[in-house]
Amino acid sequence: MKIDVLLGLQWGDEGKGKIVDVLTRRYNVVARFQGGPNAGHSLEINNIKHVLHQIPSGIFHKQSINIIGNGVVIDPVIFKEEIDALTELGVNSVEKLSISKKTHLILPTHKILDAAYEQSKGKTKIGSTLKGIGPTYTDKASRTGLRVGDILSKNFLEKYNKLVEKHKQILNQYNFKYDITEYEKKWFEAIELIKSFKIIDSEIVINNYLNQGKKILAEGAQGTMLDLEFGSYPFVTSSNTICAGACTGLGVAPSKIGEVFGIFKAYCTRVGAGPFPTELFDKTGKELQDLGNEFGATTGRPRRCGWLDLVALKYSIMLNGVTQLIMTKGDVLNSFETIKVAVGYKYGNEKIDYLPFEIDDNIEPIYKEFKGWKKDLSNFSDANDLPDELKDYIKFIEEETNVPIRIISIGPDRNQTIFK
Ligand code: GDP
Ligand code: IMO
Ligand code: MG
Repeated sequence: MKIDVLLGLQWGDEGKGKIVDVLTRRYNVVARFQGGPNAGHSLEINNIKHVLHQIPSGIFHKQSINIIGNGVVIDPVIFKEEIDALTELGVNSVEKLSISKKTHLILPTHKILDAAYEQSKGKTKIGSTLKGIGPTYTDKASRTGLRVGDILSKNFLEKYNKLVEKHKQILNQYNFKYDITEYEKKWFEAIELIKSFKIIDSEIVINNYLNQGKKILAEGAQGTMLDLEFGSYPFVTSSNTICAGACTGLGVAPSKIGEVFGIFKAYCTRVGAGPFPTELFDKTGKELQDLGNEFGATTGRPRRCGWLDLVALKYSIMLNGVTQLIMTKGDVLNSFETIKVAVGYKYGNEKIDYLPFEIDDNIEPIYKEFKGWKKDLSNFSDANDLPDELKDYIKFIEEETNVPIRIISIGPDRNQTIFK
């Protein structure tokens, strides 16, 4: 059996949480492979919205097994908050959720370091979610990090103090004022909660499951344009958000990858700083933001909005080897007279069809215009019945990318999903 991967093709928030929840009934296992509490994955079930940050989006299904993979970084305090919220809803997560021993821990001082680094950047701030992601992955690469498996070791406190001491020295250099007393207390309480979960060698468990014929869906966080290698560096996150990240973040071989589901919004959004060629600063951008309710699920920050960028989308599809596309938020475009798609860029005096190394203000999208469908999509359930203008939009994207769009999402609820 092979493992299927679902990931974002833009700058995050494509609707991964909703679609993973919709697809979970086809799978036995859902496994998150990277990122951490910087992610906010929303699901809507019977008009109730749930936001997950570190817990896989399969958790609401009775039969599903959920795994937090080694590629994830976990904040115990946020984990406890998520678990408490699930318990209140009657979800027995202890039974359904396992955590890799190799998942790295976000320490209270990692969060403080994130804030100190961002503050020191002044105008070149990345717009980090300040959840401690960068500093935690930095310690992982520096080989000084702490992992979930360490909480079971006798000298855990010693290891913790050693790392915190290193962080304090750095913070002193930054002359950064902070107080972690309260958060540290909650952190150690949450560590006790983590001990009640199954702490596993997830790479072995996952490969055993595959050998037994179990169906596994790997859930990505962020999006391809935020990938550490290929995103708009340095305005990226600190993990590999692309399909290859599922191999390293779960311990599965490339030859074990099956379907790659690539999710994109029918337009584009970005939260935080960094280049965004099709960003709209006008009334239309504001309309997309309002109609799409484009405010971050983790930080509440307004998301920047713009038209669909096919150049960036094709690049993402190439990097991930996407086999099926999923288009979300088509309904947000219901009232638009005209819909635009960037099919190339004007870069200085040149016309280009790729993302240049430096994406700066000299880049100007070349748009193709589409007639809007001007219809409420909420009553549609069959792809064949969709308005012709929307069918044209879909067909164009499929022809340009050479990948079929298999799912069209027309609202936040589980049921507002059309399979094609
Ligand atoms: P994720 O990070 O990729 O899981 O996406 P987020 O949850 O951060 O952001 C997606 C937002 O759009 C959430 O508020 C979802 O409830 C909502 N959403 C998902 N799919 C659709 C859709 O097809 N239409 C509309 N209108 N909203 C959607
Ligand atoms: P989901 O999984 C959208 C952005 C931040 C910032 C940059 C670096 O919900 O799609 P970090 O906290 O990782 O240091 O921030 O990446 N970012 C996201 N944007 N969706 C996300 O996750 C994001 N996670 C991080 O806004 O620009
Ligand atoms: Mg999100």
